[in-house]
Amino acid sequence: MTNNKVNKQENDWKQSVDSTIKRFPERKDLFTTSSDIEVDRLYTSKNEADLGYPGQYPYTRGIQPTMYRSRFWTMRQYAGFGSATGTNERFRYLLEQGQTGLSVAFDLPTQIGYDSDDIMAEGEVGKVGVAIDSLKDMEILLNQIPLNKVSTSMTINASASVLLCMYIAVGEKQGVPLDELTGTIQNDILKEYISRGTYIYPPKPSMRLITDIFEYCQKNVPKFNTISISGYHIREAGSNAVQEAAFTIANGMAYVDAAIDSGLDIDSFAPRLAFFFNAHNNFFEEVAKFRAARRIWAKIMKEKYEAKDPKSWKLRFHTQTGGSTLTAQQPDNNITRVTLQALASVMGGTQSLHTNSRDEALSLPTEDSARIALRTQQIIANESGVADTIDPLGGSYYVEELTDRIEVEVNKYLDRINEIGGAVQAVEEGFMQREIHQNAYEIQKRIEKNEEIIVGLNEFKLDEEINPDLLKVDPSLEQAQITSIQKIRSNRNKTDVTLALEAFREAVKTSDTNLIPYILDAVRAYATIGEICNVMRDEFGEYTGI
Ligand code: 3HC
Repeated sequence: MTNNKVNKQENDWKQSVDSTIKRFPERKDLFTTSSDIEVDRLYTSKNEADLGYPGQYPYTRGIQPTMYRSRFWTMRQYAGFGSATGTNERFRYLLEQGQTGLSVAFDLPTQIGYDSDDIMAEGEVGKVGVAIDSLKDMEILLNQIPLNKVSTSMTINASASVLLCMYIAVGEKQGVPLDELTGTIQNDILKEYISRGTYIYPPKPSMRLITDIFEYCQKNVPKFNTISISGYHIREAGSNAVQEAAFTIANGMAYVDAAIDSGLDIDSFAPRLAFFFNAHNNFFEEVAKFRAARRIWAKIMKEKYEAKDPKSWKLRFHTQTGGSTLTAQQPDNNITRVTLQALASVMGGTQSLHTNSRDEALSLPTEDSARIALRTQQIIANESGVADTIDPLGGSYYVEELTDRIEVEVNKYLDRINEIGGAVQAVEEGFMQREIHQNAYEIQKRIEKNEEIIVGLNEFKLDEEINPDLLKVDPSLEQAQITSIQKIRSNRNKTDVTLALEAFREAVKTSDTNLIPYILDAVRAYATIGEICNVMRDEFGEYTGI
């Protein structure tokens, strides 16, 4: 089509718009995405970018040449509450229902390195995740689950080194060779300082633990993803899509720098770096965010860090649909929200996906709600056809333009963070936190003014009793867990534990010693998570935050 013809068509169209909006004014004077990127009325062929091919640098269209035509994304529902026994039952139920990967939610005492009988754990044992005090609990948690067949993600950060060693020790007991263990440890402390809050130690020793895991796993557990660099919680704290991608990638670069500074070669650890993003409600912006993030990371790894292994360039990520978008009102509406968010994740090329349950604005999910959430993924995968072609939205004028714009905006943030001195410095100065809090405030104002409609919350409301059948964690569990840990302590070999913890303490004091082998020995002797983490509290101190 000649340029003249295109220009005439465009002019004719613009004239028709002018006459139409005299009678039907548009709903808004200005349409924007959650990141305040203006949404044009129409995107035409002039926005077309050079798309490239899936499985080829810079992977805009996906990291695998065949994507979901060869293998669906991993359906990996985050689960865990109460005791290891109860959580093991939920795990086995979800696997029976067709889930293809595990994802462990730990309670706060486990995440912050306290035993269930520590005064600091009172009232929190088993509440927001499963209580794991020692290797014994981990053996129960993974009972009848073949670790040579199932990959397990663990949402654990400050005490990640201890839970990784417990997982390795269970693998040993199952007779699984270490080099066959697959899974992911979240192990991302920077986003804990920024938004999630389950940190223990100051940044420097925390980064040492993280790079010790990188080094240990690349030598001994090569199929294990050593970190899940997370944007999910940054978004849940109130960031917009651009900030989510930018702050996550900035954190990723900080981990790469720390690993290189610790003496690791980039291609020895980078292929096992993984990411974790959110999926909120602006469908096309989320798709474009994933595509832009993949392209940005590939360019950073190949051009800035000069990684040679294409596996180091690939941004592999898990997505969880946006918990903070769920409403307590009309909870069944959340099934629709989660479906759209899951669809955006798939159209954006996710490798693994968690779909939230309809009741999660109110409590941990019931079994029924968790099943519906999993079925949502299975319907998208098997009935919608979207997994049958690669990057189906590729070439869309809007999506390509939005992908390009998000790439530009993310790079602006990366430049600003670089000027500050990198992500660790930016976190310590509170830069990311301020940006997130400001955006959260803007979102809340828009909702309160009804400029942003949340169905059932500020429009289309119902007089309803909000009391669906919610999952309740039995309060007697806390005492049962306390009894259990006291029994572990009385039955174990006290000399073995004492020697292991003393050796660990000496290793902690020497800054160039990899701590993982020492933690593994302590775990094998049934030292508890509190005993191990308290050794590090003594030597590293505790971080009191910004
Ligand atoms: N062609 C060729 N190979 C393919 C393929 C294809 N189409 N699809 C997959 N594969 C291969 C992969 O390359 C991989 O092999 P490799 O390891 O040898 O490279 C294997 O098949 C498995 O595929 P993936 O690695 O893509 O899928 P996984 O599910 O194993 O891993 C991941 C995905 C994102 C890399 C990983 O890090 C992961 O599983 N992350 C999950 C993290 C998670 O669940 N987090 C939950 C946190 S909950 C939370 O924090 C929120 C709370 O706080 C509220």
